[in-house]
Amino acid sequence: MINIDSFIEGLPKVELHLHIEGSLEPELMFALAQRNHVNLPFKSVAEVKKAYNFSNLQDFLDIYYQGMSVLLKEQDFYDLTWAYLERCKADNVLHTEIFFDPQGHTERGVAFETVLNGIARALDGGQKKLGISSKIIMCFLRHLSEDDAFKTLEEAIPYKDKITGVGLDSSEKGHPPSKFERVFARARKEGFLIVAHAGEEGPPEYVWEALDHLKVDRIDHGNRSLEDEKLVTRLAGEDMALTVCPLSNLKLCVVKDMKNHPLKKMLSLGLKATVNSDDPAYFGGYMNDNYKAVARALGLEKEDLLTLARNSVAASFLADAEKEALLRKVNAYATRA
Ligand code: HPA
Ligand code: ZN
Repeated sequence: MINIDSFIEGLPKVELHLHIEGSLEPELMFALAQRNHVNLPFKSVAEVKKAYNFSNLQDFLDIYYQGMSVLLKEQDFYDLTWAYLERCKADNVLHTEIFFDPQGHTERGVAFETVLNGIARALDGGQKKLGISSKIIMCFLRHLSEDDAFKTLEEAIPYKDKITGVGLDSSEKGHPPSKFERVFARARKEGFLIVAHAGEEGPPEYVWEALDHLKVDRIDHGNRSLEDEKLVTRLAGEDMALTVCPLSNLKLCVVKDMKNHPLKKMLSLGLKATVNSDDPAYFGGYMNDNYKAVARALGLEKEDLLTLARNSVAASFLADAEKEALLRKVNAYATRA
């Protein structure tokens, strides 16, 4: 009998909610600041880490956008993505679907193409050298206008071969999914798959809107769905996946204590919950840390962990044959470990 931590480490995992800019570790932030002659408002790595004390989503976003300022050249985006892939390898993450925030870069004068090419080149290498498969999801910043989102979508259309889906992130409250209904309708017409952050800080109505107005294929976070019984029935009935992020929820005070985290309840209600790291450099851990923190706090058993891993495979944007191959790996592990 191996213990739960070792079981988690060996479990073949899939990540579905990861902002690549949120994987920028302070050490790399400083190295890139030096390389690109960017001034940071921090004197040391220790000082940066001390600033990572958030009481809500906006507190975090302010620092997250500031951190991005060191990312200027294609090589910077490559280095950022490569560092994340090495963490995937260490954590036995076999497939990952990563977000990027083009508007966080284009509004600073960095070309869309520079960002995408750096990320995509690293992901290609990840497949070839590390055996990690991946997809790219482009997010719109919801605090910006519909017009800005439309312009960003236009920029993405020539790169449809590299971008699987579009999503919605940034400041949730006051920016409901319905604000972007027309943008997402156009994105769907162009063949992009659809996700949206909803119900992290925003009310259950935002999750309804993500379903009905944006016609999402997955909900990112979705925690507050549990406040609405009809919504839970709808999500369970549609087998709609939720990409849950335990350490993020704790750091952003979406939950007060990991012992109150709703993940176990979600599973018991028949919701297709998954575990993800969101912005691991800011929230204190990558995939294994997230699995371990929530397993420890909620007393999850091996069967629960296998369900979570299988949910992520099923909710991924891989083709059926690829999902089956991953599922076989999870099942083989279940019989072995
Ligand atoms: N929520 C909303 N926007 C974000 C997040 C998040 O957790 N991380 C990066 N952008
Ligand atoms: Zn997120």
